[in-house]
Amino acid sequence: MATVICVANQKGGIGKTTTATAIASILNEKKHKTLLIDADPQGNSTDTYRGTSKDTATLFDVILDLEDPLPINEAIQHTEIGDIIASDPLLKEADTKFPSDGDEYFRLKEALEKLEGYEYVVIDTAPADNKLLKNCLVAANKLVIPITADRYAIQGLSDLNKTIATQKKRNNPNLEISGLLLVKYKQRQTLAKEVKTALEDIAEKMNTKVFNTTIRESAIAQKAQAARTTLIKYDSKCTTATDYKDFVKELLKGEK
Ligand SMILES: Nc1ncnc2c1ncn2[C@@H]1O[C@H](COP(=O)(O)OP(=O)(O)O)[C@@H](O)[C@H]1O
Ligand SMILES: [Mg+2]
Repeated sequence: MATVICVANQKGGIGKTTTATAIASILNEKKHKTLLIDADPQGNSTDTYRGTSKDTATLFDVILDLEDPLPINEAIQHTEIGDIIASDPLLKEADTKFPSDGDEYFRLKEALEKLEGYEYVVIDTAPADNKLLKNCLVAANKLVIPITADRYAIQGLSDLNKTIATQKKRNNPNLEISGLLLVKYKQRQTLAKEVKTALEDIAEKMNTKVFNTTIRESAIAQKAQAARTTLIKYDSKCTTATDYKDFVKELLKGEK
């Protein structure tokens, strides 16, 4: 079974897609066969990976075609950036379409159990607290929460914490909340003392830690997105890419 790394935060524009695509890109570069799954109906990861949602199989066909679910390996697109299961705008219907049969949070996990040939799976999620996110939390082994150094973003984590805690307790006791990852960090910014304390407090409440590695802010992140590629492929040596490489080492420390 592949190790499943989920990137989540209920806030939009915080750095989930940049983080998920960077992790997948770095693992691929290190010759670990990695599949990216875009579980955000907005499809930004699909766009970055030069995948497509039109006239092709997507995550929708794997987890939401209830009559005739597609085997997961058949939904994989092999692009010049890497392997991806594309998102689909139809995933917005997840909350109404998933029947409440007790199985509704396990569709992705069950699909992933049949995945063949991958060492890692990285899941990018949407800024929403819905059944799709819960499917991702239930399917994951490790959870990474990107966060920016501002008070409101940190306060917003309380809601996410409730969702995570419930899913961990009920449906995925082995979920490792790997940590909070400080992203878009301004190099010359000294972290305000109260922000640092708030961050450490919430990490403690979530039974996790703040990663030692922080991801610095850089214009390259936007440039890579505009060029439809990952930060790593766009400029593997820029500070932000280097930070992400250090982060992946920290995340997977102790693993083979
Ligand atoms: N380290 C960074 N430095 C500068 N800009 C960043 C960085 N990480 C992300 N961004 C930018 O922030 C915006 C939101 O990032 P994104 O990863 O799409 O967030 P989310 O998936 O949470 O909505 C994008 O324009 C992205 O290019
Ligand atoms: Mg995104």
